[in-house]
Amino acid sequence: MSKKLWGGRFKKAIDKDFEKFSKSIQYDFKLARVDVFHSIIHTFALSGSGLLNKKETKTIISALNEIIKEIDAGKFKPDMSSEDIHTDIHNRLEKKIGKLSAKVHTLRSRNDQIVFNEKFYCLDEAISIKDLINEVLKSFLSLMKKYDKQPFIGYTHTQRAQVILFSDYLSAFGHMLVRDSNRIKKFYDSVIPYIGAGALAGTSLHRKEYFKAIDSFLSFDDSKSGKIKSVESSIDNVSDRDFIMEFLNVISIIQMHLSRLSEDIILYSTQEFDYLDLPEEFCTGSSLMPHKKNPDFLELVRGYTGRIYGNQVSLMTTMKGLPMTYNRDMQLDKEPLFSSVEIIKDELKIMAKFIKGIRLKKKIIAEALLDERLYAAELAEFLVFKGIAFKDAHDIVGKLIRHAEDNKTRIKQMPDSVLKTFCARLNSVDVAKVMRSTHAITSKKSIKRKVPKPDA
Ligand code: ARG
Repeated sequence: MSKKLWGGRFKKAIDKDFEKFSKSIQYDFKLARVDVFHSIIHTFALSGSGLLNKKETKTIISALNEIIKEIDAGKFKPDMSSEDIHTDIHNRLEKKIGKLSAKVHTLRSRNDQIVFNEKFYCLDEAISIKDLINEVLKSFLSLMKKYDKQPFIGYTHTQRAQVILFSDYLSAFGHMLVRDSNRIKKFYDSVIPYIGAGALAGTSLHRKEYFKAIDSFLSFDDSKSGKIKSVESSIDNVSDRDFIMEFLNVISIIQMHLSRLSEDIILYSTQEFDYLDLPEEFCTGSSLMPHKKNPDFLELVRGYTGRIYGNQVSLMTTMKGLPMTYNRDMQLDKEPLFSSVEIIKDELKIMAKFIKGIRLKKKIIAEALLDERLYAAELAEFLVFKGIAFKDAHDIVGKLIRHAEDNKTRIKQMPDSVLKTFCARLNSVDVAKVMRSTHAITSKKSIKRKVPKPDA
């Protein structure tokens, strides 16, 4: 069993079952790299404050650097008997530099480390998720280009509504993704990793030493390190998990978008709709029914919504009513965070490939576009431009549609003599002109038809 970071006041050894129950190493090992970062900054702060001499500082920093190299080379194997990642890194350091390692944890607390680590994790993952959203967006844009002028069937209440462009339909998802990307960016900008909170009350190292330590650290990592600040409220800092809840919320909204998208594609690829052909490499078959091609990827995306919303609710509930400041309950913030991040990244990665592989069944769509009900709103609008009040136009076209349904005929086949019994302004030439997909699309002047670029 690995050594603990505490124990002096205890006479009895920890109960084995409780020890296992209380560990977090099995998931928080993912924070190893940033945990070492925290140690590097803290070592500089101790050094600047005269608590470590030059030689000690050098020895500690180069050992910490070695650990980073091991992590980056994929050679880092956490000792699963450690209580958590902070303990694990500490023990690792001890193996490398012996007793000197005991000085690194001077005036530092895991309460401070953990929130720092998690903020870095969120920053890193926010960037990855933003990049992945961008890939999905690119796939949408290329599909939009491919089916540039293709008319499609628009629905409300899952009932046929009006003719739209397929690219306009896709553009709606493009807009959602851009908002998702911008929400991630706002989240990224709002996260500030602090240093110097101690357990809750701050430490006796001077603020300017933390400033200097952060400065010396900057050369170790990329731009994210520029966000690190010396702490303003140590009490808030160790108690705060708002940033995780915000991140989980941003992820939940992305998930909701992906789930709605999945549901649409599932629906449109059923034999009942049959508008889309799905890329085979993301579908599966049935062990009994030889004909099946099932949209399992999309079903799993839709299904994972439960997990992702659940993760958010789980943390909100864990945090509710927690007394100030750090409480061990907060250790349970990590699994929901990691789970949502990992799921959404997998989904986005696959979705970017999936979208590119969608094919439209143009013939079936063309047949669906013959449905005259899809042009009822356009016909009413046409009558409005002929000077008829919209409510009256609505009524006239409603009656025409009903008449066609009852008599199993088409409005386009009605002679002028019949059309005029509904409205004197109607004639078959105009009806033929108006009740067409090209008219339905070109008559819409209010749309700018533009997918904005996500904020950089
Ligand atoms: N592993 C813990 C967590 O993830 C940090 C431990 C803090 N423990 C403590 N006794 N202060 O929250």
